Amino acid sequence: MTRSLIIALGADHGGVSLKNRLAKAILEAGHDVRDFGTHDNASVDYPDYAHAVCGVVAGAEADLGILVCGTGIGMSIAANRHPKIRCALVHDVTTARLTRQHNDANIIALGARIVGEEVALDIVRAFLTTEFEGGRHERRLAKLNPAPSETV
Ligand code: RB5
Repeated sequence: MTRSLIIALGADHGGVSLKNRLAKAILEAGHDVRDFGTHDNASVDYPDYAHAVCGVVAGAEADLGILVCGTGIGMSIAANRHPKIRCALVHDVTTARLTRQHNDANIIALGARIVGEEVALDIVRAFLTTEFEGGRHERRLAKLNPAPSETV
């Protein structure tokens, strides 16, 4: 995507430092940031921040979202409970690119204790600049919601 985007950010205490670094880079790249916190190292609960970011992405008040916790796992689990959210837990540039191209991911989750800062910056660059490919992937996305009944 080459246009200026609104990026919603959220992190818990495990991800706040990386989230702040990513916010700076995103602003420097010419995009806008909506930072839902957290803003310090006090222990907090990651679902609160995931749900805040998902709310504005699902409501089209932000174009894309980025969630950061210690592993990225909790954030991704929380985010994917929202029907309009496709959140990918990514650890490298390749999966960041592919999840835009194939899954039209509208949020990525990062693990601040798993990926280094430079890798995270490269991931975000790929996430913000890669377009969804559409085509056969549209059909697959259409099958995500609603999930089939779990009753047997
Ligand atoms: C917090 O200690 C940690 O559990 C959290 O950041 C995240 O890794 C959860 O998935």
